[in-house]
Amino acid sequence: MTLRKLSDIVTKLKLDPSNRLRFIDKNENFIASSYKSVNNTTPFTRVSIGGTMLYRLARTGFFQLDAEKAHDLAMQNFKRFTGTPLDLAYRQQLPNRPVECMGLTFKNPVGLAAGLDKNGECIEAFGAMGFGFVEVGTVTPRPQPGNDKPRLFRLIEAEGIINRMGFNNLGVDNLVENVKKAKFDGILGINIGKNKDTPIEKGAEDYIICMEKVYEHAGYIAVNISSPNTPGLRSLQYGEALDELLSELKAKQAELAEKHNKYVPLALKIAPDLSDDEIGQICDSLIKNKIDGVIATNTTLDRSIVEGMKHANEAGGLSGRPVQSRSTEVVRLLANNLQGKLPIIGVGGIDSYVSAKEKLMAGATLVQVYSGFIYHGPKLVKDIVKNL
Ligand SMILES: Cc1cc2nc3c(=O)[nH]c(=O)nc-3n(C[C@H](O)[C@H](O)[C@H](O)COP(=O)(O)O)c2cc1C
Repeated sequence: MTLRKLSDIVTKLKLDPSNRLRFIDKNENFIASSYKSVNNTTPFTRVSIGGTMLYRLARTGFFQLDAEKAHDLAMQNFKRFTGTPLDLAYRQQLPNRPVECMGLTFKNPVGLAAGLDKNGECIEAFGAMGFGFVEVGTVTPRPQPGNDKPRLFRLIEAEGIINRMGFNNLGVDNLVENVKKAKFDGILGINIGKNKDTPIEKGAEDYIICMEKVYEHAGYIAVNISSPNTPGLRSLQYGEALDELLSELKAKQAELAEKHNKYVPLALKIAPDLSDDEIGQICDSLIKNKIDGVIATNTTLDRSIVEGMKHANEAGGLSGRPVQSRSTEVVRLLANNLQGKLPIIGVGGIDSYVSAKEKLMAGATLVQVYSGFIYHGPKLVKDIVKNL
C-alpha cells in the first residue's frame, strides 16, 4: 500500500467488538486493524494507540518513497488533517512538564528541531503531537530552491539521515505570514540563516533582515551558522567573525526589544564538528555577548560510524543515531565551559526517553528531535515527556 493511498483512504478509527482499532475508509470499508486490543484503556490511550498503529503503517508507505517525496507528502497531509477528525491519527495529550529556559516557560522540554517545517506550514500539527516547542526554518531573507535533488537520504540500518538540502525555503515574508495564522500554545522558535548567494562577509546583513522580520512573532530566534550545506557558513563559528556577528545581533535585539516592548531571546546553533578549543572559544563569545542560549548540535560531516553503509558517501550532514553520542559530548563540553551562564538545547540522535535523558544529564535544559521523529513518529515525543 503506498502512503498516498493510505492517507487518502483512512478517514475513521473505530473499535471492533474485541476492542481492536479498525481503520475505516469514507465508505465505511475496513482497511486494517490494530494487532492489540485496547481494552481497559482510557479514550486518550485508545487514540494514541491508533496513532502509533497509523504511524507504523504510514512509515512503511513513506519508506517506500524517495525520502524528500515522503517528507513533502507528510507535510501536505499534516496541513490537510489539522483541524479535521483525521488529526486524531497524531494528536496526543501529554502531561505538563513545565521548564523555564531563556526566560520563557516551556510546557514540556521536547521540541521539534529546525529543518522539518522550514516554512512554518504545519505548526499546529506539531502542536497537536504535544511538542512543547517548535522551531521553524531555517528561513532566509529571499526564497531559494536549495541544492539539486536528490539531496535527502535515509540510512535505515543506522537510523540516520544525510541531507544537503541547502536551506530550500520560501523566504522570510512567507514564513511570517504562516506563523501569524498558526494557532499554537507552545513556544515558537524561528531559525534564521543567510541566502546562498549572499557573500559570507555580508552574512550578518541577512541575519539582521530576518531578525527584524521575525522578531515580534518569535518566542525565541535561533541563529544557524552550522549548516554544512551553505558554503562558508560554518566559518562564522570561529574567532572574530563570530564575535562580530554576535555583537551585531545583540545590538539589533536591544533595538527591537525596545521597539516591540518584548524581549526575544537569541540562541546560537552550533555544529558537532568542533574541537574542544573551538567549543571553549564559542562559549567565551556567547558569554561576552550575552547570548541567551546555545543549540547543540547540527548535523555532522563525520562518516566514521556509518562507513560502508548505503548512502554513507553522499555529501551533506549526517543526523540521527550516528550523531547521538558526539552531540551529547558537545552538550557536556558546553556545560563545563558555560557553568550555567546560559542554557543549552540538546539535539542530535535523540530516539528514546533514555537518549533524551542523556542530553539532559549532560547539561541540556531542553531537547529537540528531528531524525528520531522520522523513524519513530509522534510516539517518541510522548515516550520522552511522560517519563520525565
Ligand atoms: C533533512 C534535514 C534538514 C535540516 N535542516 C535544518 C535547517 O534548515 N536548519 C537547522 O538549523 N538544522 C537543520 N537540520 C538539523 C536538525 O535540526 C538537527 O540539528 C540535526 O538533524 C540533529 O538532530 P537529529 O539527529 O534529531 O536529526 C536538518 C536536519 C535534517 C535531517
